[in-house]
Amino acid sequence: AENTLADIVSHAKEYGFVFPSSEIYDGLAAVYDYGPNGVELKNNLKQLWWRAMTQLNQNVVGIDAAIFMHPLTWKASGHVDGFSDPMIDNLDSKKRYRADVLLEEKAAEYEKNGEKERADALLAEMGRLLTAEDLAGVRQLIIDEKIACPVSKTSNWTEVRQFNLMFSTQIGAVAGDSSLIYLRPETAQGIFVNFLNVQKSARMNIPFGIAQIGKAFRNEIVARQFIFRMREFEQMEMQFFVRPGTEDEWYDKWKETRRRWHEAIGLPAEKLRFHDHDKLAFYAKAAVDIEYEFPFGFKEMEGIHSRTNHDLSQHQQYSRKKQNYFDNDINPETGKPYGNYVPFVVETSVGADRLFLATLCQAFQEETITEGEGEEQKTKTRKFLKLHPAIAPVKAAIFPLVRKDGLPEKATEIFNALRHDFRLVMEEKDAIGKRYTRQDLIGTPFCIAVDHQTLEDNTVTVRHRDSREQTRMPISELRSYIGEAVSF
Ligand code: GAP
Repeated sequence: AENTLADIVSHAKEYGFVFPSSEIYDGLAAVYDYGPNGVELKNNLKQLWWRAMTQLNQNVVGIDAAIFMHPLTWKASGHVDGFSDPMIDNLDSKKRYRADVLLEEKAAEYEKNGEKERADALLAEMGRLLTAEDLAGVRQLIIDEKIACPVSKTSNWTEVRQFNLMFSTQIGAVAGDSSLIYLRPETAQGIFVNFLNVQKSARMNIPFGIAQIGKAFRNEIVARQFIFRMREFEQMEMQFFVRPGTEDEWYDKWKETRRRWHEAIGLPAEKLRFHDHDKLAFYAKAAVDIEYEFPFGFKEMEGIHSRTNHDLSQHQQYSRKKQNYFDNDINPETGKPYGNYVPFVVETSVGADRLFLATLCQAFQEETITEGEGEEQKTKTRKFLKLHPAIAPVKAAIFPLVRKDGLPEKATEIFNALRHDFRLVMEEKDAIGKRYTRQDLIGTPFCIAVDHQTLEDNTVTVRHRDSREQTRMPISELRSYIGEAVSF
């Protein structure tokens, strides 16, 4: 399974999807850049999410809040005091680890060896110690379990400390505490603090939602698994504000809506599952992850949380500004309006990068094919990306069969006629088979070949990525043909 992730990582780099950040300086751990094809794929995913939220739902509007926020935001949200992971250093290797991850990996090892009970007992003990914030106990458990440093096989561990995951920096010219500011660790707080601005300016009535896409930053201790866990990443979050008492039905609705969306973009049902959180935050009513089966197992891709009025109440307390909504709807029990309350929130939160990784893992295909006839017949392995056409970086490639006889000019004519509607590429170099292969590797759903017959009857062949079948069709039909396939 690890090999498959390695295949994805090298494919992503070789074909311009994802590069390690500042690679010429040997990279920066858990930070990545998106290349020419990656940025198109990611933008397509973000755009589909944005449209699914703000265009398909009359009662969801968007915002784009700043990454910097008033420092009190993060006191109110609980991030200053509670957004941390237990960290432990190995004195010999000078490597830093998450204490809980070391123990989880040990438990996974037990489970793999058929010792399920032992694995469960270890996880339960870890959970108990972490809940009790018994960090010395966590260290003792690591020692008792004889966990050695994965790098140098030594077990010389420091004490366990809580490590806050927020990045901080200084704002303004004056140094000192008052100018300490954080890079947001989630986009959600930008939505909460704008609740009333949006509600009033857009004249929204409850129930309604606010959607946002943007960067978030976490100083993750464990930096592994490619773009699955990054220090700078992108979130797509939506807070749905509801009347208290209706949150369960909205929670169920959003759970299903979001699951269906993942299936629609091409993630198959059998590779998706819901995972209910065992431990809920004290304020939460319910929380579930939508997990996808990555090459390294089922892992969280999106979280859906029923958060009561905790976030708005916290901001009300810290800002001393009322976060009330007046509900004019008539309560059938009293015959009077529901009146004033602090709304409850159901949140959907998906990482754009994890979604990107899931679609790339899902799309990556290798198949054995036979080419040629009789004596000439050969079998070979074909690699291609079976991306939903709506998210493919390039929708169609246009190939003049040869670089003469007016074919390049004809191809340019077609390119110019379609470029306002679709992202296209035109390629003249190399044998046509090689050109097909290059497009397969980046997931282009259609290749349009312009040949001598095109000059006579204005038809082209359209070659399909997944079946490799070719269809002859009039140039005049291309727009609607491609348009239909790439629509979502
Ligand atoms: N506002 C709720 C929130 O931030 P979360 O479960 O911490 O909840 C939501 O994050 C989503 O953001 C995750 O499901 C994941 O897809 C993505 N995410 C979180 N941390 C990430 C990281 N370090 N790298 C990439 N994506 C991350």
